[in-house]
Amino acid sequence: MLLNLTILPGDGIGPEVTEQAVLVLQSVADAFGHQTQLHRKHIGGAALAAVNDPLPPDTVEACLSSSAVLLGAVGSPAFDNNPNHLRPEAGLLRLRRELGAFANLRPAVCFPGLEDSSPLRADLVRGTDMMIVRELLGGLYFGRPRSISGAPEPGTSGSRVAVNTMRYAEPEIERIARVAFELAMKRRRRVLSVDKANVLECSRLWREVVTRIAQDYPEVKLTHQYVDSAAMLLVQRPADFDVLLTENMFGDILSDQAGGIVGSLGLLASASIGGPVGLYEPVHGSAPDIAGKGIANPLGAILSVAMLLRHSFQLEREAVCIENAVSSVLNHGHRTADLAPKSRAVISTTEMGNLVAQATKQLASQVFVSTRH
Ligand code: IPM
Ligand code: MN
Repeated sequence: MLLNLTILPGDGIGPEVTEQAVLVLQSVADAFGHQTQLHRKHIGGAALAAVNDPLPPDTVEACLSSSAVLLGAVGSPAFDNNPNHLRPEAGLLRLRRELGAFANLRPAVCFPGLEDSSPLRADLVRGTDMMIVRELLGGLYFGRPRSISGAPEPGTSGSRVAVNTMRYAEPEIERIARVAFELAMKRRRRVLSVDKANVLECSRLWREVVTRIAQDYPEVKLTHQYVDSAAMLLVQRPADFDVLLTENMFGDILSDQAGGIVGSLGLLASASIGGPVGLYEPVHGSAPDIAGKGIANPLGAILSVAMLLRHSFQLEREAVCIENAVSSVLNHGHRTADLAPKSRAVISTTEMGNLVAQATKQLASQVFVSTRH
């Protein structure tokens, strides 16, 4: 198969982790006999620095004419004082919209052996395996009107007013709900829908539509939870969660929390799908404080490659090969700094990438041996 991808390394630790993810991709592609065609483009702060646009037209064109997009991270303090449309994040938000990527899948899994990396007690976090389904193109991130009005008045308490709009139309809720129920059918058949229906109209509509869609999936058990209470349950009994379905902003917050729970945000991968071209990126962001030090955890980016192969190419064997390689490397005790309790030896970004690439090669050869017998 031809794997025709656009690679967007982006900002901060994005380029470092993406390089390791591409290494693992190449190793799996070689082992399973696939060709790769990779086009590297700018996004975010890197694109602002190059052409003063966080999502240049040639980046969009490259993404739309490839079969999938692998992204590192966007965000850079250098542009903190820019107007909204000239911030690195604006590039990512526009890209999600250009790609029609309304469904953001963020699995949070506690890998066996990593219980000690979690701030929670091992007996609580053991067995955690949830899929957060975050709506990605609606809510406060995109709702209009949005503005800051009035002029700053230095030295006074000020009179400016800022407005954002949370907006959801029924079809937007319906399509993301279907994604969650379809996923639940292949998992433990439970969907927890998270909202704030005791306060927000958007959430009341959300709850009504999700309940209606649930009728098409009688085997799936649907429950509803207010977001504040869901945040609490997530730390009290993370292992009880299967599919967690929620709107854009709540999903942004709860997925970082889930990353902390399973040991490190650096482990979390994501897929943003639903449109013609899927977008795959680690959840951790650009982490400017550790950029360039060679200590970032590349596993979120590497596991995003597994999601890319699964969701954009239906290459399930290849995806599982990467996931098993990651498990095996962790099982052997290798840890990047974010995963290591203080006393433990740590390995670098590139060492972790190399170990996973080697493990994929080894596992792939076993796959071929076992299919020959
Ligand atoms: C994420 C990030 C983005 C988001 C930012 C960088 C725009 O935090 O992917 O979770 O808020 O969606
Ligand atoms: Mn986030």
